Amino acid sequence: MPTHTLLLLPGDGIGPEVMAEVEKVLAWLGANGPAAFEVTRGLVGGCAIDAHGVPVSDADMAKAEAADAVLLGAVGGPKWDGVPYEIRPEAGLLRLRKDLGLFANLRPAICHAALADASSLKRELVEGLDILIVRELTGGVYFGEPKQIVDLGNGQKRGIDTQVYDTYEIERIARVAFELARLRSGRVVSSEKRNVMMSGVLWHQTVSALHARHYPEVQLRHELADALGMKLVQAPKQFDVIVTDNLFGDMLSDVAAMLTGSLGMLPSASLGEADPVTKRRKALYEPVHGSAPDIAGRGIANPLAMLGSLAMALRYSFDMGAEADRLERAIAQALAEGHRTADIARPGEPTVSTSAMGDAVLAALAA
Ligand code: NAI
Ligand code: MG
Repeated sequence: MPTHTLLLLPGDGIGPEVMAEVEKVLAWLGANGPAAFEVTRGLVGGCAIDAHGVPVSDADMAKAEAADAVLLGAVGGPKWDGVPYEIRPEAGLLRLRKDLGLFANLRPAICHAALADASSLKRELVEGLDILIVRELTGGVYFGEPKQIVDLGNGQKRGIDTQVYDTYEIERIARVAFELARLRSGRVVSSEKRNVMMSGVLWHQTVSALHARHYPEVQLRHELADALGMKLVQAPKQFDVIVTDNLFGDMLSDVAAMLTGSLGMLPSASLGEADPVTKRRKALYEPVHGSAPDIAGRGIANPLAMLGSLAMALRYSFDMGAEADRLERAIAQALAEGHRTADIARPGEPTVSTSAMGDAVLAALAA
């Protein structure tokens, strides 16, 4: 039986509360599944600042490097608002992403039938929606140089950001998208603005060439990013895998997220380069939401985004696609049975605690 190593970084606020539900599911999978898990734990964010004076220690970074996958809850909160910028809680998360080389950010947007009325769009437009946005995470305009504010000396200043993409960066993110599409519908939409940006021209050429050479069986379509934004809101169900750059991916993944209703429902994965021999990728899985200080400590947070992140870890790091499907079906089942944490309940609808929601998923998993 294979043993997978997993580093859990619960973090701050509701992070530990939702991570407790992951631990329940991991215990069940370890006892009933086809693989064993070796779980280690560490600190990231404010809790690490309190314990070590830094938002992630070198020792925990070494654990993250060694693990098959890292699961993170959330970091931050008002308690650490005054700490110096370099050691703020988010810096721990940024170091993890950077040192592990996590260039591919996967953001699924799934609209459960039971929650379709929570979307800002009409039920028939979003019910059954299942999009996967693949966003390039370590390049583009957020990192390109020069990046500065220049004093022009005439009372004017100039803010400069530089959008830079090299062929290898576009190829490796496109490869991730094509390979994921093979596991799904076999359809990819690639998005840029080649009509006004040279990096967009290179993006379009590079994705097209890679497609022709290695993924001819995948159906590829190109959409300008502004048009894609429009179509995502107009008729989102036409999309499956969407691959795009850092900036457009940031915006489009937030748009797609809101089609589904609640922040407490959205998982994510960030993947690094595949090892040429073992094919294993460094990977970090985390909910999209933050530490929710407004509800922390009350046991009412929605654990489904965190549990959905575990499902992604099973699928993308542990080759346990069947168990991932099963966990996702259990989440859908718990919702279909009417279990609702406060964030996804309609006014007047009865609500359950974080722990009761986790138990409902576990019960559906075991059934
Ligand atoms: P947030 O995502 O923590 O909360 C926004 C709103 O959504 C709050 O009303 C919260 O109660 C609700 N919410 C979020 N997750 C929920 C869940 N699982 N169940 C039920 N309700 C949920 O974003 P906010 O308030 O902007 O940031 C709070 C702290 O979290 C800040 O310190 C921020 O820097 C940090 N943060 C951390 C992130 C991370 O660790 N990746 C991402 C975003 C924010
Ligand atoms: Mg964003």
